Amino acid sequence: MAAATTRAVFLASLVLSSTTVGGLTILDPQECQARETEDTKTRSKSRVGNSPRYIDRELSMIYGQNKDGTPLQRKTLVRRITGDSTPYSFPVKKVVLTKKWPETPPFIAQDFFRVDNNDDPLFYKVPKLVYHIDEPAVAALTQYYRKNIRPGSRILDICSSWVSHYPMEFPSTMKRICATGISEMELQYNDQVTNGCYQQADLNVEPVRLNYPDNSFDVVTCVVSIDYLLHPIEVLREVHRVLRPGGQVIVSQSNRCFPTKAIALWLRLSDHDHLELINGFFQYAGGYQLPCEAYDITATVPGQPFHDPMFIVKATKK
Ligand SMILES: C[S@@+](CC[C@H](N)C(=O)[O-])C[C@H]1O[C@@H](n2cnc3c(N)ncnc32)[C@H](O)[C@@H]1O
Repeated sequence: MAAATTRAVFLASLVLSSTTVGGLTILDPQECQARETEDTKTRSKSRVGNSPRYIDRELSMIYGQNKDGTPLQRKTLVRRITGDSTPYSFPVKKVVLTKKWPETPPFIAQDFFRVDNNDDPLFYKVPKLVYHIDEPAVAALTQYYRKNIRPGSRILDICSSWVSHYPMEFPSTMKRICATGISEMELQYNDQVTNGCYQQADLNVEPVRLNYPDNSFDVVTCVVSIDYLLHPIEVLREVHRVLRPGGQVIVSQSNRCFPTKAIALWLRLSDHDHLELINGFFQYAGGYQLPCEAYDITATVPGQPFHDPMFIVKATKK
């Protein structure tokens, strides 16, 4: 309980805007620098699947400077969920996709309407160093990744944040891990990216572009985010370009979202229909084996019937 409280207090009074308060200049978060002050570095020591359940870190954020030029610094406590050492079990149930999509996309402009159609960087201006899914959902995804991504892979996490939910050993067992997302500051805190391989990129701005060479990744992941994309088909075409033949895309979804930012079509559909829709996006992107594979990987939690579900749609590049 105490731990939950410490996690909740971080950022509580964080004000990051381009304003002057009491003679202090507070910079936009894009101009901030983030660094870890107390790095537990447990991941390199952890044996596979034997990480501590949580890792608490103190992060330091430089968010401006005093008149005399000395930096204004805020320290925040974050709790990282490793997905290991939990009492949960992780059944994987196949979901059969049955919807036949027409040859050409049936979507209309209103399907991609969003209540908040402001530029996305505005929404993410204050870094969201939170979890968007609960621990059972995170752990289910982490365990799925461990079983399904081969050591030595080159991985790209799109629509990423300060966490990618990979198993703790991944940075040392994978060849390369890169991440792209909307908030550079969140990405700076992502301790699973290797060699600083992260890039801020707004995928809702056309032309949609992933700034990586052709065939440069074995696996691309996208966690609880495809519902925010205005051009999901074009994004999956770009993902196809950067994947090697035989490479895999793992798109995961739960049942939550920021409703003002999700596309209208998504908000109308059930959890199962979301999987059908993602399969449709892959069909229209082209170049993937169809139908995609789909799984319900929702964790089983002793004594806790209500927790976040977790679903996977997996596509393979032809
Ligand atoms: C609910 S969060 C999920 C973040 C992360 N995948 C996770 O599991 O914590 C939604 C994410 O979608 C991404 N996103 C939203 N709008 C975007 C845009 N226009 N371009 C690129 N990414 C976007 C952001 O990176 C944001 O962090």
